[in-house]
Amino acid sequence: MRGVVALTGATGFIGSALARRLIQEGWWVRALHRSPSPPSHLTGLSLEWVRGTLGDRDCLEGLVGDADVVIHCAGVLRGITDADFYPANVEAVSRLASIAAGRSPAPRFLLMSSLAAREPELSPYAASKRMGEVALSKVSDRLSWTALRPPAVYGPGDRELLPLLRLMLHGIAPIPGCKDARFSMLYVEDLAEATVKWLTGEIREKRAFELDDGHPQGYTWYEVVETFERIRGRRVVHCRIPESILNLTARLNKMAASVIGYSPMLTQGKVRELRHPDWVCDNGPFRRVVDWTPKVRLEEGLRRTLGVTLN
Ligand SMILES: NC(=O)c1ccc[n+]([C@@H]2O[C@H](COP(=O)([O-])OP(=O)(O)OC[C@H]3O[C@@H](n4cnc5c(N)ncnc54)[C@H](OP(=O)(O)O)[C@@H]3O)[C@@H](O)[C@H]2O)c1
Repeated sequence: MRGVVALTGATGFIGSALARRLIQEGWWVRALHRSPSPPSHLTGLSLEWVRGTLGDRDCLEGLVGDADVVIHCAGVLRGITDADFYPANVEAVSRLASIAAGRSPAPRFLLMSSLAAREPELSPYAASKRMGEVALSKVSDRLSWTALRPPAVYGPGDRELLPLLRLMLHGIAPIPGCKDARFSMLYVEDLAEATVKWLTGEIREKRAFELDDGHPQGYTWYEVVETFERIRGRRVVHCRIPESILNLTARLNKMAASVIGYSPMLTQGKVRELRHPDWVCDNGPFRRVVDWTPKVRLEEGLRRTLGVTLN
């Protein structure tokens, strides 16, 4: 066994890919879950489960225990106000980091932040991811930490992007972003691999690193559409969704959320994120200190995500 990793968010999309990869690499994974029983898609994995929530300090003390590494991958991605995002994305970072910093020796700490943290003014989510990094930096003198800032992550098990990707596979591409907007992407297993490589490397700098699939200057929506055309072997009909329609949908979502009490994905903050012209990453600084190369290109990643074999 290589050591013990205390992991939050293992029941989610990215966290479950991380858990699988860590176990494969010989790490003992102690993972947090808050539902009555761990999710069925992870029952085959030899994980040590700790039941509780990010708000429960005693439970987090038990989760961190004697761990060599803490990975905080849990996060809230859907919501409207700061109060929806801050408990998991900021306060839980402070709580976990202070527990880790109080151990002797202190475990290394990895925060799954987001590229959104680069533009905190755009949305409460983006602001919370930046504030999470700030919370971590406050214990800098007592903890060796790194934050990763992935762009849009996709792959099997994803729930947020999948409906849009499925629609594109069926030949219809509603384009929510601006015409010239560019954005990076990252396949989930490459992110898990980056994490595993970070674990075995020695990073001295305490800072946030951007990560992407290495495609120069990211993608435009039209390049994504062309990729789907190659996958389908047929045309994809694309249409731009005007900002006014996105905003109207976001406002309706907000009203519905206040009546039904659910967390919508498309909010006005999310519209500002979607309309932002530059979500291009530079993974150079990370690759200079960690021996990691992303392997999965967009077409292959989309095929794997959607279960489409080569024609
Ligand atoms: N997906 C992306 O494209 C993307 C891109 C950049 C960064 N990120 C970051 O990556 C992280 C994981 O994202 P994801 O896409 O995997 O999200 P996800 O599928 O929604 O998973 C979120 C995880 O956080 C857990 N969680 C949330 N609140 C919690 C609480 N109060 N107590 C305990 N657990 C809690 C969830 O537990 P339950 O299963 O019990 O709900 C789940 O395990 C997040 O920090 C996100 O900001 C994601």
